[in-house]
Amino acid sequence: MTTSAQSDSAAAGVFPPSAETVAQAHVNAEKYAEMYEASVRDSTGFWREQAKRIDWIKPFTEVRDVDFTLGHVKINWFADGTLNVSANCVDRHIATRGDQTAIIWEPDDPKDPALHISYRELGEHVGRMANVLKSLGIRKGERVVIYLPMIPEAAYAMLACARIGAIHSIVFAGFSPDALGARVNGCDAKLVITSDGAPRGGKVTKLKDNVNQALLHDTSDVKCLIVRRTGQQIAFRSDLDYWYHEEAAKVSSDCPPEEMSAEDPLFILYTSGSTGQPKGVVHTTGGYLVYAALTHEVTFDYHDGDVYWCTADVGWVTGHSYIVYGPLANGATTLMFEGVPTWPDASRFWQVCEKHKVNQFYTAPTAIRALMGQGTEWVEKCDLSALKLLGTVGEPINPEAWNWYNTVVGKGRCPIVDTWWQTETGGHMMTPLPGAHATKPGSAQKPFFGVQPVVLDPTSGTEIEGNGVEGVLAIKDSWPGQMRTVWGDHERFEKTYFSDYKGYYFSGDGCRRDKDGDYWITGRVDDVINVSGHRMGTAEVESALVAHAKVAEAAVVGYPHDIKGQGIYCYVTLMNGEEPSEELRKELRAWVRHEIGPIASPDVIQWAPGLPKTRSGKIMRRILRKIAENDFGSLGDTSTLADPAVVDDLIANRAPK
Ligand code: WT7
Repeated sequence: MTTSAQSDSAAAGVFPPSAETVAQAHVNAEKYAEMYEASVRDSTGFWREQAKRIDWIKPFTEVRDVDFTLGHVKINWFADGTLNVSANCVDRHIATRGDQTAIIWEPDDPKDPALHISYRELGEHVGRMANVLKSLGIRKGERVVIYLPMIPEAAYAMLACARIGAIHSIVFAGFSPDALGARVNGCDAKLVITSDGAPRGGKVTKLKDNVNQALLHDTSDVKCLIVRRTGQQIAFRSDLDYWYHEEAAKVSSDCPPEEMSAEDPLFILYTSGSTGQPKGVVHTTGGYLVYAALTHEVTFDYHDGDVYWCTADVGWVTGHSYIVYGPLANGATTLMFEGVPTWPDASRFWQVCEKHKVNQFYTAPTAIRALMGQGTEWVEKCDLSALKLLGTVGEPINPEAWNWYNTVVGKGRCPIVDTWWQTETGGHMMTPLPGAHATKPGSAQKPFFGVQPVVLDPTSGTEIEGNGVEGVLAIKDSWPGQMRTVWGDHERFEKTYFSDYKGYYFSGDGCRRDKDGDYWITGRVDDVINVSGHRMGTAEVESALVAHAKVAEAAVVGYPHDIKGQGIYCYVTLMNGEEPSEELRKELRAWVRHEIGPIASPDVIQWAPGLPKTRSGKIMRRILRKIAENDFGSLGDTSTLADPAVVDDLIANRAPK
């Protein structure tokens, strides 16, 4: 119920939690203040206590061993303890809640039946898949790439790897064969787990074909385990390929969990940066699980018996921490959705919420904006009365979308948690907590326990104290979910995150701390763009473009896009003698999709006879960004350009959007 105090604050853009939300919450305002203070004052004591939510095989004695000094960066949590992640996510729940649903699977086509997989059944599936992996020769420490649609086997595969101590690296099923191949080779994987096809929005992607194309490049001894999903024809390579259902029939479901050190890698996840090709973010076992589990329970105020749905794909970190590891470590019921929000129609999300009586719903601003554009009737025809909480993640949420989410979906009675975090952070870093904070549309607000955000002056790197300030966002000390290294390249890890601002973890985001001390993320300050919540390095799109025979040079920037948040704007200089044409534009678009995947599809391609460069040859992206934004008034100083005339040409020939 909306009280008059609530509507007064709503006018001011502040939304206090209802008395009901506060009463049921794990953490209210007093508890947050007390726990946050303790977590910062005595990090060791706080995390020693929190680590008890996980079952350890051998208890740890040392909580943390951390150094953020450039050249010596090391991050260790609970290092001498041992445990197994799959035992924590599955086995330990079987005795207490074996018949409870662990995973609800909702298929792409609403006419197909949903599945309810109990913890007991999950245990059998995971054990069997683990034995199949062993039978294919996978050993502890080896890498397995998972390239699957959103089917339960994706979760089984993750947990099966964890069970035998293999390191998984999930590649989003929307990535191209080349992108897949680069990741398989990057971590020297011994096996790829895929399916024949991946249905999504009524269309099917030929995943197995992609695997065949990818691996043919340079790795010919990588095996492939194929889950039958669509039953379509595939090119089966008898020397390398195995059907999962055939292998599964040969093994038992009994597979004892491997004893892992807390700092053994659990997974690698490739993510884009401002330079070069995607890097393999490494997360380890103990700290990651403690952090994923705690944040899942506290941020979403998850209670036993709730049905929780995160709409992400397991190909992104959100799917790792908040579809699989966090919820299952907590013995939750987690919903896995294979489809898309707008197929068969714009009501799909809300129909799934109604059908499964979803209590907590977590999605991305881009999905909210897309659905908002379809009108309210799609939401209103569904019964959303089970909803207690809404969450958002992936990019800043604009107040219009926030307000629509709050009023149309949440009917003004569900707190919204705007969770800021990154692939690198493993779990939520800043978010309002539902029972503790009055929310503000667009603000990620408060640090999670143990997280010490600082606002730095981008030039001097010094901390800006006080409220009502703006700068770049860094984190002062470690937290258990922090990434440990870049796979195979610890130097790149140090250089990327610890060299610009000495002694801090640098997030790559800008931020503002308002007069109340609440944080607002202002977006990336590096050459990373955020397209529909997917992270894309402009350098990756540029290198895809210049790999085309007709392209001499390319510069890529982000620009504001109504639905996607940011769109991809490409300035392309053609080889001498090549003529710009609509066909070529189409060809280049298709080329980038083919090189990286549909998520990298250029929104705008502008032909650029020249690019604005300094005399030393550095492309001045600041200017290109302004032109892409249609903001010609503030191009800033162009006097250092080698040839200022190119700017006039780019403005005059600005491509239509
Ligand atoms: C980047 C990280 C974390 C899972 C999904 C994305 C942006 C993320 C928010 C938010 C404003 C956000 C940041 C961050 N971002 N959440 N709530 N408000 N910006 O993970 O692909 O590693 O991207 O996403 O720019 O640095 P990712």
